[in-house]
Amino acid sequence: MCGIIGYIGGQPALEVALAGLRRLEYRGYDSAGVAVVVDGGLRTLRRAGKLANLEKALAESETSPQGTVGIGHTRWATHGGPTDGNAHPHTDCTGAIAVIHNGIIENFASLRAGLERDGHELVSETDTEVVAHLLEDELATVNASDGPAAAAGGAGAAGPGEEAAAAGASRLTEAFRRVCRRLEGAFTLVVVHRDHPDVVVGARRNSPLVVGVGAGEAFLASDVAAFIAHTRSAVEIGQDQIVEARRDGVTITDFAGNQVEGRPYHVGWDASAAEKGGHPYFMLKEISEQPAALADTLRGRLSGDAEIVLDEERLSAQDFRDVDKVFIVACGTAYHAGLIAKYAIEHWTRLPCEVEMASEFRYRDPVLDRSTLVIAISQSGETLDTLMAVKHAREQKARVLAICNTNGSTIPRESDAVLYTRCGPEVGVASTKTFLGQVAACLLVGLYLAQVRGVLYGDEVARYVEKLQAMPALVGETLATIEPMRALARTLADARAVLFLGRHVGYPVALEGALKLKELAYMHAEGFPAGELKHGPIALVEQGLPVVIVAPSPRGRSHLHSKIVSNIQEVRARGARTIVIAEEGDTVVEPYAEHLIRVPATPTLFAPLVTTLPLQVFACELALARGLDVDQPRNLAKSVTVE
Ligand code: M6R
Repeated sequence: MCGIIGYIGGQPALEVALAGLRRLEYRGYDSAGVAVVVDGGLRTLRRAGKLANLEKALAESETSPQGTVGIGHTRWATHGGPTDGNAHPHTDCTGAIAVIHNGIIENFASLRAGLERDGHELVSETDTEVVAHLLEDELATVNASDGPAAAAGGAGAAGPGEEAAAAGASRLTEAFRRVCRRLEGAFTLVVVHRDHPDVVVGARRNSPLVVGVGAGEAFLASDVAAFIAHTRSAVEIGQDQIVEARRDGVTITDFAGNQVEGRPYHVGWDASAAEKGGHPYFMLKEISEQPAALADTLRGRLSGDAEIVLDEERLSAQDFRDVDKVFIVACGTAYHAGLIAKYAIEHWTRLPCEVEMASEFRYRDPVLDRSTLVIAISQSGETLDTLMAVKHAREQKARVLAICNTNGSTIPRESDAVLYTRCGPEVGVASTKTFLGQVAACLLVGLYLAQVRGVLYGDEVARYVEKLQAMPALVGETLATIEPMRALARTLADARAVLFLGRHVGYPVALEGALKLKELAYMHAEGFPAGELKHGPIALVEQGLPVVIVAPSPRGRSHLHSKIVSNIQEVRARGARTIVIAEEGDTVVEPYAEHLIRVPATPTLFAPLVTTLPLQVFACELALARGLDVDQPRNLAKSVTVE
């Protein structure tokens, strides 16, 4: 939810931090702040509101802090409103320590009470501030003892020279470790200390933290986007680990102080991928990138002889043969991708498949065992609800396959296997291209399961594969002819509400259309199975209400098509303004559609890859017509790292 960057090196830390925060602002934009270590002091500046407010305040201040060690934060508020005072970084009583945080410290109330009893003065409403004060105490304790200095190579108490500096840094790290052991909940923390200008220390538990390693510099950040302009060499930090970053490298230890190896990796995209590329909004850019994103998800997964290859599998074919039940866990848009997957997996494999909102999964005690395959879908790989569902599933001995877009993120690491969607960075808060990647990845998993279990014949799989390979071009075709949807959306900026109806795989598409409109245009929007309408929701229909209907193909599933035609007539009869998404050649719907948006004909199970596109464009354009920021909708954050 919050975005974090820490820097140590030779460049001006303030500039590095601000540039990093610009790329991380999608994670939260309630307030922003920086702290820079400057000549034995700490300069901190924080402002409520978007990063622009902080930048304005910095521009207006007489001197901007110069220094090569610093931290920056962009906040999505949990504890305490979005005010200057609650903005990060937070400091201790002495003003020597500055802390930034992503996550929630669940035992902060008791920790705060203890600190206040001991005479600490806490000035914000946040949970984060306790960390600065705990560190102040722990550092005093560590400094008063010789142990950590000895651990750093026998250096004594602080004195002149590098040895003393190393000993001091080591003490800070040891004190920080002690603090982390006392914290409950989820956290990424990054700390600087005015008396330790040769180190930035970070920690993570159930919240993202990656390290960037450059020449003579290091970065700690929530996401590689924050440092991609400087280095593409990254190191994964594991669960309950501490990283001590210096100019000459990084040291990683667990919370007990044991040294551990981080997993280094190369970031496969560059800074230009995280820029708007001439588009006014990231969302518009990401919508336009969908043909390429889909092609990238499929690339290399379909072998020459039309077999499905899941090349990042750590589960064997036998493991997949042993599966007797599938659960899909995910949130929001990823959940909708899971709902689509259910139709494909059950149809192709004849395995029962349940789709569950990750936030509910572990609390209802689902029946899981060694033969259960749990598919966790997450763009960010950091959604805490999904992560907790993964952990629960593994505790119950189920096998977990992650479908994820972010290399090095937590959910793939906590799973038995991973299939990356490879859509590139998605910065707009609303998921667009990664939804298509998730649907495609799910289809691949469904075909793979059917293939290894022998439920589909080779030639049947080959036919699906051929059609799947054609989908990126059809996505491109759909986007090329989408202008009528844009124009229509602009005329509906004053609508009070919009309903979305679908059947079969069109139902999750309807849910996704409604979610997009809610989050971007702040409008009342609901998605329903068209057949369910008569059981209550039809009471919402009134004169002029826009109703978007995702029509199934009339080919092959004509019984479904005729049903939806009846549903269109039902809402029309009650005054609705019907907007019908229908495939080329579907002439039956024409008389009932006030507005008809065409998409190319596809196999039934692949239709969401094209029918979703007009709904993304509809929500985006309508929100823009209402004067809203589609990249940073109110109250939201791209990556939800709290439960
Ligand atoms: O990163 P994840 O895919 O796990 O995120 C899950 C949801 O928070 C996410 O899909 C959200 O609903 C979308 N940003 C909505 O467009």
